[in-house]
Amino acid sequence: MSLSDRIETLAQWMNQSSKTVVLTGAGMSTESGIPDFRSSSGLWKQVDPRSVATVEALLHDYDLFHEFYTMRMNHLATCKPHEGHKLLAKWEKKGLIDRIETQNVDGFYQAAGSEQVDELHGSIQTVRCQACGTAANKERFFNKANCTACGGKLRPNVVLFGENLPEDSWVSALQHMKQADLVIVIGTSLEVYPVNQLPTMTKGKTVYINKGLDRPFHSFDLVIEGKAKDVLQRINEHL
Ligand code: OAD
Repeated sequence: MSLSDRIETLAQWMNQSSKTVVLTGAGMSTESGIPDFRSSSGLWKQVDPRSVATVEALLHDYDLFHEFYTMRMNHLATCKPHEGHKLLAKWEKKGLIDRIETQNVDGFYQAAGSEQVDELHGSIQTVRCQACGTAANKERFFNKANCTACGGKLRPNVVLFGENLPEDSWVSALQHMKQADLVIVIGTSLEVYPVNQLPTMTKGKTVYINKGLDRPFHSFDLVIEGKAKDVLQRINEHL
């Protein structure tokens, strides 16, 4: 099947579907200028996640932890949602998609106007105390200040390796996957558990959109090779 045929097929499925769920990863935001994790220019090619993105790092090497997340938060402030994020918001308003399940922490879906979003790996836009959970403002984190309530260390509200996913979001994701009759997976390597299990939990049709298909995705009903923004724009022409 040609690329155009695949895009037309997906648009048809979307038009016919009564419940469509979109599952996204870092590849959805690379065209906004945010690096992903496992591509050749990905963050985990430059730094070992164990040294910066774990509770151990937070507790035992706070300087490095703080430097890594400050760098990401400052960079994020210079980026914005792209046309693909805006299309997802438009499709939600038109009733073409029901929910976004995302591993991304950038908040770009909501910034682009989507309301039905589960942030499965949390958000880098907000900060809390590691010890008591009290919310804090970003400035205090940037200044390496401690929690005003208990003096604990501040951290962004992202999920670190070894931590559980936010329960509400995970329960919501499971429900939406079970009820979906179409699941569109965009820009994720599907290497990280448990989110990588979600596409197997639907009885609906499954679609995988990625800029590079470095391994076969036989389990999907439809695979589309292309960049997220471009593919979403092309789908939009058929909706
Ligand atoms: P990865 O970096 O593992 O995968 C990103 C995927 O997006 C790759 O398969 C790329 O080929 C693809 N990609 C990149 N740019 C794209 C584009 N413009 N259009 C389409 N596809 C593109 O990122 P995730 O799968 O999101 O977790 O990683 C999952 C989790 O691992 C992250 O949430 C993060 C990380 O460790 C935590 O930090 C807990």
